[in-house]
Amino acid sequence: MNIIEIQTNSLKETEQAAIAFSKIVTPSTTIIFHGDLGAGKTTFIKSLCKALGYQDMVTSPTFTIMNEYENDIPIFHFDMYRLASCDEALELGFLEYFEKGHEGICLVEWPENVEGLIKVPYIDITIEKINDTSRKIKIRSVE
Ligand SMILES: Nc1ncnc2c1ncn2[C@@H]1O[C@H](COP(=O)(O)OP(=O)(O)O)[C@@H](O)[C@H]1O
Ligand SMILES: [Mg+2]
Repeated sequence: MNIIEIQTNSLKETEQAAIAFSKIVTPSTTIIFHGDLGAGKTTFIKSLCKALGYQDMVTSPTFTIMNEYENDIPIFHFDMYRLASCDEALELGFLEYFEKGHEGICLVEWPENVEGLIKVPYIDITIEKINDTSRKIKIRSVE
């Protein structure tokens, strides 16, 4: 288990961290994002998608659960905030996206709500708000 821990002191620094992180992302990677509302999960994801080549607007898929971004490497952006249970996720066909060999990148906000459905290996990014402008970002590879 490896942990990288950094502190960003502005929105721009978080965006730069996401760009740097994008360099090590390969197809078929699952990345889950922990952190309270307003921590910066969607902010990080927006910059990550842009750095991976996706130029259109990225918004949190709060009402749709999942957004698909057509890109050289397809990106699937999940927001599980409003999901009531793992059963609901299964009914929505959630698991198909996380099958081994799937070539897309899966980004998951609020993975707590689908605990147990996300299989290793994945990358866990936890963002913690220190104050209005500073964040602690921990990146962990789970195998
Ligand atoms: N250093 C920082 N890193 C990330 N976001 C920051 C930072 N400083 C301020 N912010 C602000 O915090 C908010 C994060 O919101 P968002 O990314 O939607 O959070 P989440 O998806 O975790 O609920 C944004 O309004 C952003 O501008
Ligand atoms: Mg969000």
